Amino acid sequence: MAQELTLLGLESSCDDTAAAIVRQRPGGRAEILSSVVHGQSDLHAPFGGVVPELAARAHAEKLDVCVAAALAEAGLGRAPEAFRVLDAIAVTAGPGLIGGVMSGVMCAKGIALATGLPLVGVNHLAGHALTPRLTDGAEFPYLMLLVSGGHCQFLIVEGPESFRRLGGTIDDAPGEAFDKVARLLGLTQPGGPAVEAEAKAGDPKRFRFPRPLLDRHDCNMSFSGLKTALLRMRDRVVEEKGGLTRTDRADLCAGFQAAVADVLAAKTARALGIYISETAPPVPLIAVAGGVAANQAIRGALETVAEAAGAAFLAPPLRLCTDNAAMIAYAGIERFRLGHTDGMDLSARPRWPLDAGAQAMLGSGRKGAKA
Ligand code: KG4
Ligand code: ZN
Repeated sequence: MAQELTLLGLESSCDDTAAAIVRQRPGGRAEILSSVVHGQSDLHAPFGGVVPELAARAHAEKLDVCVAAALAEAGLGRAPEAFRVLDAIAVTAGPGLIGGVMSGVMCAKGIALATGLPLVGVNHLAGHALTPRLTDGAEFPYLMLLVSGGHCQFLIVEGPESFRRLGGTIDDAPGEAFDKVARLLGLTQPGGPAVEAEAKAGDPKRFRFPRPLLDRHDCNMSFSGLKTALLRMRDRVVEEKGGLTRTDRADLCAGFQAAVADVLAAKTARALGIYISETAPPVPLIAVAGGVAANQAIRGALETVAEAAGAAFLAPPLRLCTDNAAMIAYAGIERFRLGHTDGMDLSARPRWPLDAGAQAMLGSGRKGAKA
């Protein structure tokens, strides 16, 4: 389909309501005309985690507001005239919290019905995995490490709809572990940035954290044991001294963060080895996405591993690493160019693995299905 395409994308699979307009000329780089994200952190803060029912209601309330803002920011004017510029509507159809995904899918169907525009259902993970093409025009095949509050997996991205999962977490996602650790230490949410800030002043060697599953020669990981280890260490210090000092807290954070970074680095080295030997890419590339990729210690460890393997390292800007609708609109463009659209029977899927052939991963995170 050699034509300029302009798509509206909708995202509502977790705790961000988002709408974006992305345009791509044939053979050219995609351009983000607008990207509106309405987060729900304040709404869920009193509960210490995302409450699915509250999330779904908030998505339903905010989706049309975000769509109107995305159309206006893209300079397309107001609905319904603005819809005439569009070629299709892309929407996250899973995996994620089912109420939120349904809100998005119903909103997209409503717009598609009213305007006659084609509907394109997008896998949320495909949105993340294709982001390096949106931001940097990455060529297939590249290796992707998704590390967020709900996901953790290595994918060889072979084509717009062709993903091979090499492995992932068998329990918690790393971001989820950071959030739980922050809660155990009385730090603010989201836990990742708070733990990273504390860790800066800490000694990573004082507490001896395990490095789970490094003895297994696959690309699977486990992070839930690290948070249990931290809980025990915290309780021991509290028992001995009657409380935690700032130094204790910083050392616990530094030890935990170093363990996560070591596990991710070691498994990344393994995944890079498989990707390079099996696909022989002309220019090996590893890209990261997800909120945890913002962590400087983890990012540094991954960059070192990539350099040692002779691979380029790509970390898209944080606003495109975390949940957003530009990645959904872009993944929609890639699907639409293949001639793939969906009908009014498009369903919302809480679980939707990108690689249907891969073995199922265990567990479902606090922020939804890991898939
Ligand atoms: O990608 P994201 O915004 O949402 C999804 O989970 O899909 O990722 C959010 C997660 C949270 O668990 C948060 O604690 C973590 O990413 N995170 C970090 C950092 N910044 C955000 N984890 C470690 N270090 C950080 N600097
Ligand atoms: Zn995500």
